[in-house]
Amino acid sequence: MHLPSLLSSRAVVPLVLISVLFLGVQTLAQSEPEDAETAEESVVPFALPQSGPFTPAEINIDNDKAISDWFRSAHANAAAEAFSHWDDDGEVRAACATCHSGEGFRDFHGLDGTEAGVVDGPIDVGGVVDCGTCHNAGLAEIREISLPSGVVHPVQGVEASCLTCHQGRSAGIDVETATAALALDEPNPELRFINPHYATAAATWLGGYGQAGYHYEGREYSGRFFHAAPVASCNSCHEPHTLEVEFEPCQTCHLADSPQNVRIARQSYDGSGDVSVGIRSDIQNNAATLLSLIEDYAAEVVGVPMIYDGSRYPYFFTDANGDGAIDMVDGQNVAYASWTPRSLRTVFNWKLVTADPGNYAHNPEYSLELLYDSIEDLSGPLGLDMDELGILR
Ligand code: HEC
Ligand code: HEC
Ligand code: HEC
Ligand code: HEC
Ligand code: HEC
Repeated sequence: MHLPSLLSSRAVVPLVLISVLFLGVQTLAQSEPEDAETAEESVVPFALPQSGPFTPAEINIDNDKAISDWFRSAHANAAAEAFSHWDDDGEVRAACATCHSGEGFRDFHGLDGTEAGVVDGPIDVGGVVDCGTCHNAGLAEIREISLPSGVVHPVQGVEASCLTCHQGRSAGIDVETATAALALDEPNPELRFINPHYATAAATWLGGYGQAGYHYEGREYSGRFFHAAPVASCNSCHEPHTLEVEFEPCQTCHLADSPQNVRIARQSYDGSGDVSVGIRSDIQNNAATLLSLIEDYAAEVVGVPMIYDGSRYPYFFTDANGDGAIDMVDGQNVAYASWTPRSLRTVFNWKLVTADPGNYAHNPEYSLELLYDSIEDLSGPLGLDMDELGILR
């Protein structure tokens, strides 16, 4: 892919600023002020004509489409929690900066001239996934990406960017380490919910090979979802600026009215027997079953009921008296602290699968396998018959 040479220099910054003026939006004004000087030398001519009269609408701005597409995307949404979380701290923590700011990403990969593999910081707040995150000559030099599982995956070109940020922050191995040598069904107050993190698309996509999930001994897991040649990379499905998935190209191979309704499997994985719905439905139903079994296990086997609230961290709370309301101490919700190795590993797989809303397109097999094995894991102590549940792997 040959991009206009403009993009490989830092000259894109004033392009954004200029376009932002035309869009009538001011919020980006804080982007990298220190670059303004360098950039002024190289750009000026195309946006501001020497003399008028002129109408702004008739002035052609290079890259206008890419900029406005990007500007409306989640990557440019400076107000999102994913970019504003550190505002009160005044700088983005090194442990978080790689994925939560273009500046941090460049620092981590050494694209800013600093050591690669570490964020030297400090990283300013207010950054987003800017143009220079993906349009950076140095990106082509990145040959591999390390995943939280320890697996090192070879990458090419812009893939290095998506796979760095959408890989999640922890893997099944972290659960194994935390629970090693502990009795399977004994609650341990030292155990804390382990969060795979968010938008973990690449983790799902790489499947068993990437080892993001908690893998049960003796079980085989589907590897990377190779799918089909035209849809084998992040950007073959996601327009890299809008981030949207265009459905029309899918229809050359799939008969369906939306990505959510695509199905090839002729068997029902969720025991419903309904194969007229998309495979997404099976995944969602099995995920719902798993969550309810985790709750049953907490109440019946451990004896300390839990409540799940997806809107607040750490999502799982204690309801010791079983009245259906989260326990409060000093006005604070009490985080669930009666995890056992078994509930911790099953909840990890549940969260990993559900942290990726595109799981059905990224790797349906791997998602279904993790859910099945976790459901089966809980069925023992709960005295449930897998055949009766009708769930398939
Ligand atoms: C490997 C990359 C990566 C690292 C490292 C990382 N994050 Fe994230 N984080 C993401 C991605 C991707 C999202 C976007 C999820 C989404 O779609 O909103 C996200 C989302 C978030 C959100 C928003 C969640 C929500 O509900 O909208 C918060 C808060 C957050 N991260 C905190 C942190 C903190 C704190 C750290 C450091 C301790 C950190 N992240 C490190 C990739 C990362
Ligand atoms: C998340 C990564 C990412 C970000 C952020 C990004 N781009 Fe791109 N851009 C790409 C990829 C990948 C392509 C190649 C598209 C293809 O294969 O057709 C591309 C292509 C382009 C092209 C070629 C024409 C086109 O639209 O396909 C231009 C121009 C461009 N980008 C400008 C920008 C500008 C300006 C910004 C910031 C406002 C930006 N990009 C932000 C990934 C990104
Ligand atoms: C520097 C880290 C970073 C890179 C590189 C990156 N992303 Fe993201 N991505 C994020 C964060 C953070 C969010 C969440 C933003 C938000 O909540 O507004 C996100 C959101 C998304 C979304 C969700 C859009 C939505 O509407 O919620 C998609 C899809 C996505 N990214 C795809 C990609 C693809 C494809 C690439 C590679 C071309 C890529 N990302 C590269 C960090 C990154
Ligand atoms: C086969 C096409 C395909 C491929 C390949 C693909 N995706 Fe997706 N992705 C989708 C679909 C479909 C969705 C779900 C969109 C929806 O439901 O709105 C999705 C959803 C997402 C989301 C969540 C968006 C949201 O709304 O929160 C992210 C993030 C994402 N993909 C990133 C990636 C990354 C990174 C890669 C490469 C590792 C990738 N995708 C590869 C099709 C694909
Ligand atoms: C070139 C043909 C082709 C294109 C284009 C294509 N797919 Fe596929 N798709 C396949 C094949 C073949 C499979 C089965 C792959 C396998 O199981 O290994 C599949 C499987 C799937 C599945 C899993 C279905 C199931 O029941 O397991 C989903 C979901 C899916 N595709 C979504 C999409 C989406 C969304 C797009 C467009 C962004 C898309 N596909 C584009 C060929 C294609």
